[in-house]
This record gives sequence, structure tokens and C-alpha cells, in this order.
Amino acid sequence: MTRLSHGGDVYAAARELGQSVHRLLDFSASINPLGPSPAALRAIVSARDLLRHYPDPACWDLRQALAMHWQRSADEFLIGNGSTELIHLLPMALQIQHLLIVGPTFSEYAAAMQVSQGQVSVVMADRADGYRPPLERVCVTIHALGQRKTDRPPIDAVLLCNPNSPTGHACEAAVVRRLGRLAAREGIWFLVDETFAEYCDEASILSQALPARTIVLRSFTKFYGLPGLRVGYVVAKSHIIRQIAAHQPPWSVNMLAQRAAEAALCDVRHTRRSLRFIHRERTRVMKALTRLPGCTVFSSAANFILMELPVGQKVAGTVAALRRQGILIRDCSQVPGLNARSVRVAVRTRADNDRLLHALMAVIHNGGS
Ligand SMILES: Cc1ncc(COP(=O)(O)O)c(C=O)c1O
Repeated sequence: MTRLSHGGDVYAAARELGQSVHRLLDFSASINPLGPSPAALRAIVSARDLLRHYPDPACWDLRQALAMHWQRSADEFLIGNGSTELIHLLPMALQIQHLLIVGPTFSEYAAAMQVSQGQVSVVMADRADGYRPPLERVCVTIHALGQRKTDRPPIDAVLLCNPNSPTGHACEAAVVRRLGRLAAREGIWFLVDETFAEYCDEASILSQALPARTIVLRSFTKFYGLPGLRVGYVVAKSHIIRQIAAHQPPWSVNMLAQRAAEAALCDVRHTRRSLRFIHRERTRVMKALTRLPGCTVFSSAANFILMELPVGQKVAGTVAALRRQGILIRDCSQVPGLNARSVRVAVRTRADNDRLLHALMAVIHNGGS
């Protein structure tokens, strides 16, 4: 099985460059540049004595905190070892045989279907439309593929990443909910990956009751800045949660992760600071990238920006030239549905972003080497 690599592999880069991980500037994974909440770091230290016990398999305290945060029942949450574990559980747990993905998007959904030997269809957003997810076409496709007699099983699930990675586009919550209700009427699952939704609360469908058969994925990796701890969760009606939980290995989520996630969720001050910072800095970086000669920049609701390098400029050469300087960006030229000049950069601290902008300017000036 060939798999697209993900961003954030700082260890491979450090080995290759003979450098410490700490010296690299990683723009290839989109993690909160202000880092995790200080309260989360303190919680990790205090939880160290718990390492002599198995972790709480019910993730009880974290689920209570999530229930309070979202004003929902704790039975509507399942915690996983990063949202990736949950993405891989869903096809098996829900017996999904044919997933319709709204692309271009994160590759792990299709990878999970491949592992479970299911089928995938994709409705691609158009570049000319700023990669706006074509939800009208999704509705038509659900009907058409549900009814047409082919040797493929009918679509039994739809996946939307909102806001989407790597395009950064966010659909309005009302529109997403409407699609969820349609899916419920058609008797199919509706999976919404809200891994980047902390940056645009208004796009989340979690503030209201979820339609039947709708499942929302969330993560503590991106906004909460804890990629190394591996904590994600799904939200759905409690009987669906029980169905998914039955397929999860026991003790997936360690106690340091459970305690840190709970503390991060409750740290309202760090949340506000992070949001203020990202919104300001994203606008600044976006403007600066737009001024780079020949580059096309797509607006983003998350803490990363999708852009296209100038015509004639090789993505691989550009990414490699930056990498030699210890600056990692995400090569998106192989992402199905994206232009071959596409790269994605995270929004980091002001000083880091300035380093990237200068380096990128110089590499573009040299034609990508
Ligand atoms: C859209 C999206 N969803 C889910 C994930 C997985 O995140 P994690 O397993 O760290 O929670 C990623 C990671 O890059 C992502 O980009």
C-alpha cells in the first residue's frame, strides 16, 4: 500500500540534517505556535506518579470536562490515541463499505478505508471556486450512487473535513447540519472532521444537537498544541459511541495525555490568547505571501495557509532548499485534486514566520534551488 506522508516528521529531518529537533522550524504540521497551555504542562508533571497504574480506560475525568465544555452528556464522547486512531476505527466499527470523501483533503480517511478493504469515491472541490467544498454535488452524488446499480456497494458514509486541510476552507455550520440531516434521511453515516475547528468556532456543528448518524472528530493535537501526547475524540449519540468503543483496544490513551488534555481544555486564558494571536498573525503572513512574486494564496480559516508557487518553480526543489536550512514546509503537489505547485505552511510565531518569508523569497528568487 502506498501512503502519502504527513507533515511534522521532525525526527526524520533531524536525522537527515544531523541537527537537533529543537533547531528545526516546522511549518509542515499546523500546531499552535504558542505551544500547549502551561496548565497542561503542569498537569503532565503532576500525573507522573500515575504511570505506575494502568490509565483510566473510561477516560472518565476528561469526558466529564468535555461534557461540561460542550454542554452535552459524557456518554456522547469517546477519547482516542489521537483522532487518527478514531479515523481508523470508524470503518470497521460502523461497517462502512463505501465512503464518499469531499476532497482534496487529509489522506488518512482513504488510508483507513484501504486498511478495512472498503471503497472510496471523491467529490473534488474546484480550484476556480477557491476549493469551496461542493456540497450540492455531494448531495447529488449520494442520490446517484445510492441508486445506480453497479458492482460497487452503495455509499454508506460521507466525510467532510471542516475547516478542510490542506485548503483551509470552512463551510458554515448550518450548511453542514443540513448535509447531516440529508445523510440521516438516506440512512448513511456523516463524518465531520473538526480537527481545526477551534480556529473558527462558528463553523462547528457541536453547539447544537447532532443529527442521527452524524459523528464529529476533534483533536488536542492542533489548537491545544499536544501532537506528541496523542489525544483526540469523537462526539456522537451515545449508542453510536458504544458501537465505536467496542472496537477500540483498551488503554489507548495514557494518563499524562488524559490529564493534560483536561487541563488544556479548561485553560480559557491560553485559548483566548492563542486565538487572538493566530488571527492577527495569519492575516499578516497571508498578506506577505500574497506579495511574493507569482504566488497564489488561498484564504484560510485555520492556522495554515495553502499556496501555489510561481509557474515553472518546482515544489520538490523549493521544499528541499528550505529543508537544507532547517525549515520544513508541506509539499502538497501530490495531494489528489490540488495543483502541482501547491504547498502548505503553518502559521508560527512572528519571528519564525519572518524567517520563512525571507527564505521563501530567496528560494523563489533563485528559481527553487
Ligand atoms: C484534518 C486532520 N484530521 C486529523 C488529523 C490527525 O490528528 P491527530 O491524530 O494528531 O489527532 C490530522 C493530522 O494532521 C489532520 O490534518
